[in-house]
Amino acid sequence: MTELEIRAAGAADMEDILALEKLCFRPPWTAASLAAEREDPDGLLLAASRGGRFAGFCLMHRAGDQAELYQIAVRPEERRNGTALALLRRAEAWARENGMTEAFLEVRVSNAPAVGLYGKAGWRRLGVRKNYYVEPVEDAVLCGKELKE
Ligand SMILES: CC(C)(COP(=O)(O)OP(=O)(O)OC[C@H]1O[C@@H](n2cnc3c(N)ncnc32)[C@H](O)[C@@H]1OP(=O)(O)O)[C@@H](O)C(=O)NCCC(=O)NCCS
Repeated sequence: MTELEIRAAGAADMEDILALEKLCFRPPWTAASLAAEREDPDGLLLAASRGGRFAGFCLMHRAGDQAELYQIAVRPEERRNGTALALLRRAEAWARENGMTEAFLEVRVSNAPAVGLYGKAGWRRLGVRKNYYVEPVEDAVLCGKELKE
């Protein structure tokens, strides 16, 4: 398989990221809010590509010594190739290297691929947040991971 490249997202990646954002999330983040995270020193926006083609992205944010995974998405035709796991591991490494000690995320209870991904990456299920999501309304599973060396 062609090698996967993961890098800090550049301005040239934003169109692809926004298109995938709109495909995957309701309501989607705006171009302005994604661009603000890219420029924020507390934000980490990573882009992945395979064979020169954009494959996916993830967005993590620092809140003191905690990291929050805001978004992770892979283009449908690129899924099940290990792209999300590689993005997640890179984001966790960034958080660890920058002094964050634990990380959190929310995921829709019905999102089996994402729940599987986080379980495989060693995240623990911490609880349920009732009616956390809109469009459609749904509970979130809160997951966390200690970021030990
Ligand atoms: C969730 C998502 C990011 C996974 O991306 P991906 O690149 O296909 O994931 P990976 O190939 O890295 O898979 C890693 C592991 O996750 C789990 N997984 C991934 N897709 C899965 C699926 N469809 N069903 C069950 N488990 C799945 C598996 O444990 C997998 O390991 P394996 O392939 O060795 O069994 C992708 O499905 C996606 O973009 N979904 C839409 C956006 C979204 O829901 N994001 C999460 C918001 S919380």
